[in-house]
Amino acid sequence: MHPPFITHPPFLIIAIDGGAASGKSSTARALSERFNLLHVDTGSFYRAITAELVRRGIAPEDLDALRATLPALAPGTRVEGRAARMEIAGRAPAPAELRGPAVNAAVSHFAAVPEVRAALLAYQRGQAGVARAHGFRGLVMEGRDIGTVIFPDADLRVFLHADPEERARRRALEGQQDSIAERDRLDTRRKTAPLAIPPGATAIDSTHLTLAQVVEHLSALVAATSPPPAA
Ligand code: DC
Repeated sequence: MHPPFITHPPFLIIAIDGGAASGKSSTARALSERFNLLHVDTGSFYRAITAELVRRGIAPEDLDALRATLPALAPGTRVEGRAARMEIAGRAPAPAELRGPAVNAAVSHFAAVPEVRAALLAYQRGQAGVARAHGFRGLVMEGRDIGTVIFPDADLRVFLHADPEERARRRALEGQQDSIAERDRLDTRRKTAPLAIPPGATAIDSTHLTLAQVVEHLSALVAATSPPPAA
């Protein structure tokens, strides 16, 4: 028996990792538009969980409270345009809350706790099902451990760098104050799933590149990864 003809292009998974303000979100958003992919910003998931825990007055050191609370959060996903947003109890926190100073200061501390990461593992992998259910051709997921832990078999693994001064400049242009260096230090040194270049990843230093140049480069790699099906 021959296998049936494949009439749809294969489901595509692109993993983008990198430090704070390294250009992940802009790059992932552009790729999601060009290739009809669900854009999954896992940093926003860690931020949503952090906002909820901060609201409940739970500290990252309070493992008993985390163990009691995390399983009950049971987050859902709302798709807005091409972006996945986490909902907790039917509510998706506003972007201003997710990017505010309280969450900026706490998120890397919560993200270093293995219980928090474990609570998000299946949720993040489940975004492939969300993308399929919404008719996307695949997903582009950005974070710190996507190519190393969440989707190590992704069709394309990318690691973005940029000089610290350039990253601070980008955040300032967005009107945000963010302790980039401190978060990078915590994210790189933690024991569980630290920020690292995934094996086989394409590493790009975007310090002197425009967004369009990064996107063109990656688009060529995506196109080479998944040639259109033969007629
Ligand atoms: O991408 P971001 O700066 O919005 O991410 C916020 C924090 O979430 C970041 O400092 C570390 C954590 N994070 C993580 O540990 N693993 C991910 N896959 C994504 C984010």
